[in-house]
Amino acid sequence: MGILKAITEWATSPWGQDVPIHIAWFLIWVAALAGLLFLIVHAIYVRYFAKAEVFADGVTPTSAAVLPERIPRHSLVARLFHWIMAASMFTLLFTAFLPKIGLQFDWVTYHWIAGSVLTVSILFHIIHASFWLDFWAIWPDKADLIDAWRRVCRFMGRPAQPPRRFAKYPLENKLYHGAIVATGLAAIGTGVFMMFRVRTIFFPRNPYLFSDMTWGLMYVLHGLAGVGLIALVMVHVYFAVRPEKVDITKSMVFGSMRREFYLKHYDPQRWIVEMPPSGSTRSDREA
Ligand code: HEM
Repeated sequence: MGILKAITEWATSPWGQDVPIHIAWFLIWVAALAGLLFLIVHAIYVRYFAKAEVFADGVTPTSAAVLPERIPRHSLVARLFHWIMAASMFTLLFTAFLPKIGLQFDWVTYHWIAGSVLTVSILFHIIHASFWLDFWAIWPDKADLIDAWRRVCRFMGRPAQPPRRFAKYPLENKLYHGAIVATGLAAIGTGVFMMFRVRTIFFPRNPYLFSDMTWGLMYVLHGLAGVGLIALVMVHVYFAVRPEKVDITKSMVFGSMRREFYLKHYDPQRWIVEMPPSGSTRSDREA
C-alpha cells in the first residue's frame, strides 16, 4: 500500500471514501530519465567496452551463393501495420503527457481516436501474425536460452562456445516485444473501458459502469502502462537509429535487407529466407 500511495494521487469520493484517481505525474520524468539513462549507459558500453561479436560458424559458401541480393524481411502489410501503430503510439504519448507537463490543449478527443486506431491495428496484428506470419518467430526458444547462457559466460570471462548466429529476431528483440505486449495490452484493455468516461462515437457515456475505487485503479494501471511506454519507446527509437542497426530499420521501410548484413548476423538455418519463385530473373525480382 505504501508504494501505491507514493506513486498515485488520491481524492475523496462523494461517499467519503479515499480513492486513487491517477498516477502521480512525476513518474513521467522517472520514466524519461530511466530511458535516457539506459541509452547513455548502453552507448558508453558499446563505444568503450564491448568486444567484437563472435559467432559459431554456421554459414556454408553454398548456402550463401543461392541467396538473393536482397533478403526479404517484412511484407508490405507488416510494414504498414508497424508504421500505423507507431503513429498512433506517438500520438497517444504526446496527447497524454504534454498537457501534464504544461502544454495545455484539448487532448482527450485526439487521444481516444489514436487509442481506437492502436486497438484496431493491434487486433489486426494478432490475427495477421497468427495465421499469415510465423507466430512463434517472436517468442524465445531453447536455442535462444542456450546462446544467452553462452553469451553471459563469455561476458564473465568463463570458457563457453560462441553463440550461434541469430534467428530472424534475436533474444533481445523477443524480450522487448514481450514487454511491449504486456504494457500495450494493459494500456489498451484499460483505455477501452476509460472510453466510457468520455464522449466517443462508439457507445453512450457511462461513468457509473464501475465503482470509484475500480475506476481509480484502472486509471492508475493505464497511467503506469503509459509511462512504461515512454521508456520503452525511447529505447526502441534509440536502437533504430544506432548505426549498426540501420540496416534493420531500413528493412522496416523498404521490406528487405542486404545479403551481406544477413550473412553476418543471421543463421540461414534459423531464419529461412523465402526464395523468389524459381524461373524468375533478377530483373523480375528487382522490378
Ligand atoms: C501509448 C499508449 C497510451 C498512453 C501513454 C496513454 C496515456 C494516458 C494518460 C496519461 C491518460 C490520463 C489519465 C488520467 O488523467 O489519469 C489517459 C487517458 C485516457 N486514455 Fe490513454 N493512453 C494510452 C493508450 C490508450 C488507448 C489505447 C486508449 C483507448 C483504447 C486510451 C484511452 C484513454 C481515454 C478514453 C482517456 C481519458 C480518460 C478521461 O479523461 O477520463 N488510451 N491515457
